[in-house]
This record gives sequence, structure tokens and C-alpha cells, in this order.
Amino acid sequence: MSIRRLLASFLSFVALSSGSITLPGCTQAAFAQAKPDVNKGAQLFNRLTCAACHPQGGNTINRSKPLKGASFQQKFARDAMIAAIVRSGMYGTAMPAFGKDQLSDAGLSDIIAYIRSLTPKTPPGTPEHSKPPKARKKSKSK
Ligand code: HEC
Repeated sequence: MSIRRLLASFLSFVALSSGSITLPGCTQAAFAQAKPDVNKGAQLFNRLTCAACHPQGGNTINRSKPLKGASFQQKFARDAMIAAIVRSGMYGTAMPAFGKDQLSDAGLSDIIAYIRSLTPKTPPGTPEHSKPPKARKKSKSK
């Protein structure tokens, strides 16, 4: 019987993680309307020129402010925080504001899903979802 429960939770984990989006931990996505689409988000990210300043989620203008990595995820723990920046821009910096005339709410959640996808899994504080990392990509150590 406990095997069953294990199986059930494993299956739901698989169901969750096989979707096109990586949920940031167990928290409910803030924009739950339509399911955010990472691929659409990636397209929008290019079309709206985010990619010009944030190629692959980096930041060509202020290198200390990439859109990925543990500290970004920590700083922007909630999707709404990213949304606020994108909608309002960052006054006094090169980060522009994107109003609804340029970017719909659905498009914004797609972009956020894309941004989240740039940080490889295992968000902090979700032990029940953390699995032994499979063969880490060899990138430069932090
Ligand atoms: C013209 C360049 C430019 C464009 C276009 C741009 N950004 Fe930015 N963005 C920046 C800069 C520069 C910063 C860092 C500002 C600062 O110094 O705090 C930033 C910061 C951010 C941040 C906050 C990062 C942090 O750690 O504070 C987010 C999120 C973000 N951008 C998302 C986007 C998205 C999404 C788009 C497209 C819809 C976009 N940006 C388009 C230049 C740009």
C-alpha cells in the first residue's frame, strides 16, 4: 500500500515535470490563466528585443543582473515580481517598460516561463522535488 502511494506521487511528479514548463518548486504559477508556453515565450523574448540585452538570459549591459541563476530565482521568487519589472521597466537603467500594447498578459507569462526555464532545475527549498542531479553539464563553476 505504501508502494502504491510512492508510485502515485512518483507519477504525479513525472506528470508535472514532463510538461513543457518547469514549475518553480511546488508553488503555483502566479499566472495560472492559460498554461504558459516556454516556446512562445522564447519567441516573444526575441521579438520584443529582450534577447538583444539578455541573450540566453544574460545581461550585456549590466552583467551583474542576469535573468537566471540561483540569486535571480531567489530575488524574483514570485512571477509577479518579474512581471512588475517588465511592465514598469527600471527607471534610470536601460531596462525598458513593456506595456500591454506590446505584450499581453498571456505573452508575459510565456516570457516568464521561458526565463524560468533558463535556470536549470532544483530550486532551493523544495526537498520533496529534488532528485539526484543527472550528469551536470560542465560549465564554468560559479
Ligand atoms: C535595451 C536593453 C534591454 C532590453 C530590450 C530589455 N532589458 Fe531587461 N534589463 C536590462 C538592464 C540593463 C537591466 C538591469 C538594470 C539594472 O542595472 O538594474 C535589466 C533588468 C531586467 C530584469 C531584472 C533583473 C534583476 O536582477 O534585477 C528583468 C526581469 C528583465 N530585465 C527582463 C527583461 C525582459 C523580459 C525583456 C523583454 C520583454 C527585457 N528585459 C528587455 C536591459 C534590457
